[in-house]
Amino acid sequence: MNAPAQIQTDKALSPAQTLWDMSGDDMAAVDTLILERMQSPVGMIPNLAEHLVGAGGKRLRPLLTIAAANMCGYSGTSHHKLAAAVEFIHSATLLHDDVVDESALRRGKKPANLIWGNSASILVGDFLFARAFNLMVETGSMQALGILSNAASVIAEGEVQQLAALRNISMTEADYTHVIKAKTAELFAAATEVAPVIAGRPEAEQAALREYGMKLGLAFQLVDDALDYGGFESALGKSIGDDFREGKMTLPVIRAVAIADEVETAFWQRVIVDHQQNDVDLEMAVSYLRKAGALQSTLDLAKTYSADAANALDIFPASPWRKSLQDLAAYVVARIS
Ligand code: IPE
Ligand code: IPE
Ligand code: MG
Ligand code: MG
Repeated sequence: MNAPAQIQTDKALSPAQTLWDMSGDDMAAVDTLILERMQSPVGMIPNLAEHLVGAGGKRLRPLLTIAAANMCGYSGTSHHKLAAAVEFIHSATLLHDDVVDESALRRGKKPANLIWGNSASILVGDFLFARAFNLMVETGSMQALGILSNAASVIAEGEVQQLAALRNISMTEADYTHVIKAKTAELFAAATEVAPVIAGRPEAEQAALREYGMKLGLAFQLVDDALDYGGFESALGKSIGDDFREGKMTLPVIRAVAIADEVETAFWQRVIVDHQQNDVDLEMAVSYLRKAGALQSTLDLAKTYSADAANALDIFPASPWRKSLQDLAAYVVARIS
């Protein structure tokens, strides 16, 4: 069995440093659980899992569970297990996602599937999913288990729906919203919703925290989709242009296509539908997106969702935890690099 390694997290990436500082002890407990529970006598499992998990990541989703539980006055230890489960679900989807997306970079490193192969990545992803379920069961909260297991199936539906819509230039904004809600926002929503559940808080607080997570997740994915065209690889730890190369219809492209002239329509038809792309096409696409104001309008929509997320927490009494969660919503749309 491999000895657990130290986890390096990208705290520096997050101006929501206060939330990190406030959650330090809880997050250390979560990281310990993560390291413990990704162990297995089958050596390839911890090796592969450690490659991804040890590379850090922002740990945004478990941080949400911890902060929301603290805001709800929770005093047990189930929030550590649920936060670890949430990060395992996220990690499993990343392992699967990089196979599907044929990505070249994840958390600044080669994706696991390019080292161990697609089959190993998918199977270790399954292992992490299963370990997430073990952790949830240990909390004894059927309701939390129900929320997170529902999220796991919704994420898979979102990924499949997106796969089916690949290179479909007539994808609508409504279709797109449905996909990102499922593949990304649902896990954010579940991560925050389970906190009031284990804290035994009233349904109104559960609904408010679900709304917060949902809107935050939508904002997060919108920013991510804008950054895929306008960001910097070094800051993201992911390749720029993955969505374009894949022929994935994200909001910036949907909006640019909607107002494209004849020349631009022919361009989008060729690169997305016919999937005929050459070296200068990504640059060309970015210039069309900018001309259409599509990156800016995507970020504007993200800002609206982020404000909605912050407002959803207004039903809670003012506290440092509430403030830091509201600040986090602002951070998510501020990470425009
Ligand atoms: C990546 O999520 C997947 C998306 C929903 C865009 P993160 O950007 O939170 O990934 P890590 O965990 O920080 O690497
Ligand atoms: C993120 O998908 C959602 C999941 C992993 C389920 P993306 O494909 O948009 O995210 P990145 O860009 O690879 O992180
Ligand atoms: Mg994907
Ligand atoms: Mg991807």
